[in-house]
Amino acid sequence: MTLLPLPFMLFLLTSLPFSVISQLDERSTLLNLKRSLGDPPSLRLWNNTSSPCDWSEITCVAGNVTGISLRNQTIAATVPTNICDFPNLETLDLSSNRFSGNFPTVLYNCTKLRDLDLSQNNFNGTLPADIDRLSQQLEILDLSSNSFSGEIPPEIGNLKFRTLNLSSNMLIGELPDQLDNLAYETSFLNNTNLCADKPVVKLQDCRKGLRKSRRLPGAIFAIIVVIGALILAVTLVLTFIAIHVYSLGVVLLELVTGREGNNGDEHTNLADWSWRHYQSKKPITEAFDEDIKDASNTEEMTTMFKIGLMCTTHCLVTCLPKEIFYSFMFFANKDLRRQKGLQQRHLWHFYWLVYLVGGQVKG
Ligand SMILES: *[C@@H]1O[C@H](CO)[C@@H](O)[C@H](O)[C@H]1NC(C)=O
Ligand SMILES: *[C@@H]1O[C@H](CO)[C@@H](O)[C@H](O)[C@H]1NC(C)=O
Ligand SMILES: *[C@@H]1O[C@H](CO)[C@@H](O)[C@H](O)[C@H]1NC(C)=O
Ligand SMILES: *[C@@H]1O[C@H](CO)[C@@H](O)[C@H](O)[C@H]1NC(C)=O
Ligand SMILES: *[C@@H]1O[C@H](CO)[C@@H](O)[C@H](O)[C@H]1NC(C)=O
Ligand SMILES: *[C@@H]1O[C@H](CO)[C@@H](O)[C@H](O)[C@H]1NC(C)=O
Ligand SMILES: *[C@@H]1O[C@H](CO)[C@@H](O)[C@H](O)[C@H]1NC(C)=O
Ligand SMILES: *[C@@H]1O[C@H](CO)[C@@H](O)[C@H](O)[C@H]1NC(C)=O
Repeated sequence: MTLLPLPFMLFLLTSLPFSVISQLDERSTLLNLKRSLGDPPSLRLWNNTSSPCDWSEITCVAGNVTGISLRNQTIAATVPTNICDFPNLETLDLSSNRFSGNFPTVLYNCTKLRDLDLSQNNFNGTLPADIDRLSQQLEILDLSSNSFSGEIPPEIGNLKFRTLNLSSNMLIGELPDQLDNLAYETSFLNNTNLCADKPVVKLQDCRKGLRKSRRLPGAIFAIIVVIGALILAVTLVLTFIAIHVYSLGVVLLELVTGREGNNGDEHTNLADWSWRHYQSKKPITEAFDEDIKDASNTEEMTTMFKIGLMCTTHCLVTCLPKEIFYSFMFFANKDLRRQKGLQQRHLWHFYWLVYLVGGQVKG
């Protein structure tokens, strides 16, 4: 075998079409990519004897890989880090697979990308604020039907899309102003908690949404309802007790004075009459029923009369809760006891209440 002269060999090497070398390079990169994707059965024809430009998933222009479409291949993987090792890649379609992970920022390295379709996958997490580092040539971006969450970064408006689709994700908050544009009318469908200020696109108005979110959370609302119901119930019970106490007082006064509860005079009932008599400093015995008055029972009748008076205090009906509050304060704070409003009277009402309630419970 004769050695060829060195200059001739150099000539042979340099005269090899560049595209052939580049194709060999890109084939090994694609075979690496295939391995990163977990050797999906659908890519079994990607092998080291055939030309990548003959593979149905690959688009070439003059022997350079310009497009990769892996649509609907049941691939479950993260986007491989070597996906941008194709200097002329313009179209990347990974849609309808089970790609997962956060938004693939490795795609920032695909500087000639014009059409990127990541729709119908399992991508999640927030869209990165530096998403405008994607190719400046990007015209189509489809991220629809994934699980992207959080707010849409306003920086996405720095890219000039022909088509943008962020529909059917879990994006929330207010749409950046730049995107509230008729060109994007159907770009944000089905993101339940996404809204726009005076929306042009098909989105709910944030001002309505805000009002909704300012509403009390369900749990707090329920607690308020329960507390309200309790207060109402306690008030009803207290009123019920107070009415009973009042009736008892009237009966006692009727017994002691021998007068009718409502003694004919429409402005004066027995309770008022008894109070005025008591306050007039006339002897109590003058109010007693002549038929049963007897020196031997004056003391008992006086006690019954006083109990009757206590039970019929108007305040008992109208301000019982306040009375109870004051009663507790009376015990709790000795300074308060000196104050005008807290007289011994309040205490009596309290004792009566405890007595009656105790009696009901025992009975
Ligand atoms: C390599 O792939 C080509 C089609 O791309 C196929 O015809 C050929 O049989 C494959 N070779 C091997 C060894 O699998
Ligand atoms: C091609 O791939 C087969 C296995 O898939 C391997 O045995 C062979 O060495 C490879 N050939 C080249 C030239 O890489
Ligand atoms: C193919 O790729 C090479 C290297 O990136 C580049 O120089 C060449 O212009 C490309 N050819 C076409 C037709 O884009
Ligand atoms: C995806 O591929 C399956 C077969 O593997 C096919 O039945 C289905 O219609 C395809 N779906 C789309 C949206 O192309
Ligand atoms: C882009 O590629 C370079 C080198 O290939 C790498 O260092 C860098 O991390 C890549 N950028 C991203 C965002 O992946
Ligand atoms: C994204 O999905 C993965 C599982 O696929 C989960 O572990 C992770 O918590 C998710 N991240 C967010 C922000 O939802
Ligand atoms: C709306 O989006 C949810 C996920 O965010 C998805 O499950 C549902 O199918 C979508 N509905 C439509 C009509 O696209
Ligand atoms: C975005 O995708 C949804 C389906 O998920 C579709 O209804 C809508 O028309 C698309 N919008 C654009 C601008 O492509």
